[in-house]
Amino acid sequence: MLDQLKGLRTQALSELSEVDSLRGLELWRVRHLGKKSALIQILRSLATLPAEERRRAGAQANEVKTALESGLSEKERQLQEALLASPLKSRQLDVTLPGRPYPIGGLHPITQTINEICEIFGNMGFQTIEGPEVELEYYNFEALNIPPHHPAREMFATLWVETGGGEETTLLRTHTSPMQIRLMERERPPIRVIVPGRAYRYEATDATHESIFFQVEGLAVDTNITMADLKGTLLEFCRCLFGDERKVRFRCDYFPFVEPGAEMAIECLACAGAGCRLCGHSGWIEILGAGMVHPDVLARVGIDPDIYSGFAFGMGVERLPMLRYGVDDIRLFYNNDLRFLRQF
Ligand code: DAH
Repeated sequence: MLDQLKGLRTQALSELSEVDSLRGLELWRVRHLGKKSALIQILRSLATLPAEERRRAGAQANEVKTALESGLSEKERQLQEALLASPLKSRQLDVTLPGRPYPIGGLHPITQTINEICEIFGNMGFQTIEGPEVELEYYNFEALNIPPHHPAREMFATLWVETGGGEETTLLRTHTSPMQIRLMERERPPIRVIVPGRAYRYEATDATHESIFFQVEGLAVDTNITMADLKGTLLEFCRCLFGDERKVRFRCDYFPFVEPGAEMAIECLACAGAGCRLCGHSGWIEILGAGMVHPDVLARVGIDPDIYSGFAFGMGVERLPMLRYGVDDIRLFYNNDLRFLRQF
């Protein structure tokens, strides 16, 4: 039996040195220290031996068991360690390498322009608000003094929105002006707001027209607001956006919801006023419509035109970065060509 134990020990330890996985180790444990292993069988059978033999064989068997057990735990430690180390080794990291550049998105040039406009007017005390793009015909037209057969409807090629019968007629707003009415219905003067947002027109696109475009509307209503306030505010705006040098022209124009109405143009940036294709050889580029809020518009929202007066203006947004950066086609802003957009 002593020889058998010696043999068991040599055999088991040599097999152990071959084990290279935790799973292999478990199999080894079952084979050599499990209930059915030869060693455990021997330990069980000791009781049947005569006393002298039992003592010697018992001591020997226990010694073998201890050797196997400590071999087992040593092997287990080694395997655990190797397991931890291997992914570290295979994914070794050179911390001195420069980081991988991660592309950071930027704001769209139109968004940048709108933010800039809002900031300039914000500094003059105007709050920024937004309004719905699907609008009631009433706010887009009637409330702005444009009844159904008014010729001014011609200016606004309208995209109508189909609604179930009986409801009020809806459309995609053709300008941001309807928000003037929505705001004045719920707020009392003093009012100073600007309204950036999309507008829609049923028109063919070309280098200077898009059927979806952006406008920024402005409105100020208070006691004693005059044309001089309108002019001063808009001049300051142009100075901030285009610099002190740029010439500005302010002329009469007609819009049904203002009286008097005006338009503002700046000296063409491309030809410095000499006349070119961009400005239609006039030397001037129109950037906005404006005027004193029509007394009927004020009365319609319950603001007494004998006490209050106001000015309003509305500008197209795309034209501003086009002028500034010499972009000669409005469609470039909406084609999502990153080579174009990344320049801003
Ligand atoms: N809504 C006009 C348009 O889209 C622009 C405009 C003109 C807005 C005069 C105004 C204004 O507020 O007073 O053509």
